[in-house]
Amino acid sequence: MTKPDEITPDELEHQIAIESLLDERRHFPPPAAFAARANVNDPAIYQRAADDYEAFWEDAARGLDWYEPWHTVLDWQLPFAKWFVGGKLNVSYNCLDRHVNAGRGDRVAYYWEGEPGDRRVITYADLLAETERTANALKELGVGRGDRVAIYMPMVPELPAAMLACTRIGAAHTVVFGGFSSESLADRINDSEAKLVITADGGYRRGKPFALKQNVDAAVESTPSVEHVLVLRRTGQDVAWKDGRDVWWHDIVPRQEANCEPERMDSEDMLYLLYTSGTTAKPKGILHTTGGYLTGVSATHRWVFDLKDDDVFWAAADIGWVTGHSYIVYGPLANGATGVLYEGVPDFPDPSRWWEIVERYKVSILYAAPTAIRAHMKWGRQHAQTRDLSSLRLLGSVGEPINPEAWMWYHEVIGGGRCPIVDTWWQTETGGIMISPLPGVTTTKPGSATMPIPGIFADVVNDDGVSTPLGEGGYLVIEKPWPHMLRGIYGNPERYKETYWSRFEGKYFPGDGCHRDEEGYYWLMGRVDDVMNVSGHRLSTTEIESALVDDHRVAEAAVVGAPDPLTGEAIFAFVILKSRVEPTPELGQELRTHVATKIGAIARPKTVMFTPDLPKTRSGKIMRRLLRDIAAGRPLGDTTTLADAGVVESIRDATTSARDDE
Ligand code: PRX
Repeated sequence: MTKPDEITPDELEHQIAIESLLDERRHFPPPAAFAARANVNDPAIYQRAADDYEAFWEDAARGLDWYEPWHTVLDWQLPFAKWFVGGKLNVSYNCLDRHVNAGRGDRVAYYWEGEPGDRRVITYADLLAETERTANALKELGVGRGDRVAIYMPMVPELPAAMLACTRIGAAHTVVFGGFSSESLADRINDSEAKLVITADGGYRRGKPFALKQNVDAAVESTPSVEHVLVLRRTGQDVAWKDGRDVWWHDIVPRQEANCEPERMDSEDMLYLLYTSGTTAKPKGILHTTGGYLTGVSATHRWVFDLKDDDVFWAAADIGWVTGHSYIVYGPLANGATGVLYEGVPDFPDPSRWWEIVERYKVSILYAAPTAIRAHMKWGRQHAQTRDLSSLRLLGSVGEPINPEAWMWYHEVIGGGRCPIVDTWWQTETGGIMISPLPGVTTTKPGSATMPIPGIFADVVNDDGVSTPLGEGGYLVIEKPWPHMLRGIYGNPERYKETYWSRFEGKYFPGDGCHRDEEGYYWLMGRVDDVMNVSGHRLSTTEIESALVDDHRVAEAAVVGAPDPLTGEAIFAFVILKSRVEPTPELGQELRTHVATKIGAIARPKTVMFTPDLPKTRSGKIMRRLLRDIAAGRPLGDTTTLADAGVVESIRDATTSARDDE
């Protein structure tokens, strides 16, 4: 899968030089008092893991409750891994029952806050009862072990309850982010052949209700596998209803018994699918299984976030993405943690909302995306400074590279200069954190995710797969299997092999460029494939291109990521119209909206530029590298393989474009 237009390590080095990350000389050792109390404060853990990584992860797996022990720690038939083979467990039991049985039922699982300001406190006993009732309702609706359930809900407590209910009865869930369109939802339902869709009438965003059920109604027109739609009332908005198919949550769940025996699942049974964008137009169903995943997310949650009994942990993410799966739901609940669940946007009704939440619940660990931190920087420090943030003791970052400036602002303004920052690199596919500081051990540098955690073995290699010396860049690879790794792409083992395991023999290729400095610190530098990262959300250029050419007036489209100070990357679309179609700013706006309708608002291009032609190699391949330069306003790189050199100039001269100037 070598692609001539991939970003080369040279280009990445160039980018990194521009951002002068390498001039970053500041070091932040763990504060002594923090290190003294930390869950992990002995660096010997790295060596112990390296000496015998199977034994190391086996120890971690012992932190869970198993009905039956495994007979084999790892069965590795490259690239197919099985962890804790023969072991039997149930995820909802590990996340709920075992805490309640240990007398901790009154402990708070979630402080929930709806965007309009409604609040609920949900204890472990409450969440267990709701999960069991929901599980019984799912059974009544004909869902059983081995089935798939699609979940399309706002961030309400019933969402984790629905996920846990699936795990209780051995059904796999696929959560679809509420910002995706009905078409995206339908694709995911069809690929997973879900029997049931769990949704709500709608949710709240920026002070207004938005509709979900309506999108489900449109989606299930084309999803033959769906038998029922279970609908939670959240906003009270009007919904269309189809008798026999649609069922209100309040009609079926509350009347169930709060008693449902957990299924004894095999360690390698499917736990969930989560769709993510790859380099083609079709999102991939990333498949995670049971024992290894829960081992990995619970262990990394304890080590990286230094979780203590009195902590209040807030991952300010949406459960529709992997961060929410692993660090709002499964990792924290398996550890019996107290978490915060917030439904809405950070600036409603004003930009102090997050800091008010931190103050109200005495949040001690905050985990957020750099794009949110940059938005807070833009809104101003006064919103944080008028709140009491003294409960915070550790900060985390995830989803995209964090620029040193945002790191320092987070450290000083939010962390009061006293909280270590864990910049955690990982992916939907990796299931949990892979490269990150251990806050009681690692000296951090602003902008670097530092080193692979114990039990994870990474390298940086050149085009030929040869390890690059320290001080140089290349491609990140992972060298050994790990418990929380994906087990495949649903229904497509060939695509799994080709996407992740064919580029460098025997190694997992995540698609990220990386520079390793003289001290061996990893500096992640963004994707090297056709995947963009917009506000920490992964989007495929190809998927957006196919949405654009779906409009009958568009002949051809090429999409690239352009650097953006707020969102990291912004979507920049070059569009060639069919002959006789007038390029007008209005048409540009229509196309932007068309993409948002097809995929979801997160995929709306920031800029649509009409162009008479696209730069292509002599073999006809679009040279995205040049388009990226144009979109970024950079001087053009090498154009020697260009079929027609005049093309680039004609694009540069193109004046008709539509952009979002918010
Ligand atoms: O490019 C990397 C970037 O996000 C990609 C994974 O996206 P997704 O599967 O949506 O998961 C996001 C949440 C885990 C990676 O390939 N990425 C994620 N975390 C970081 C990062 N890039 C730099 N630094 C990070 N801490």
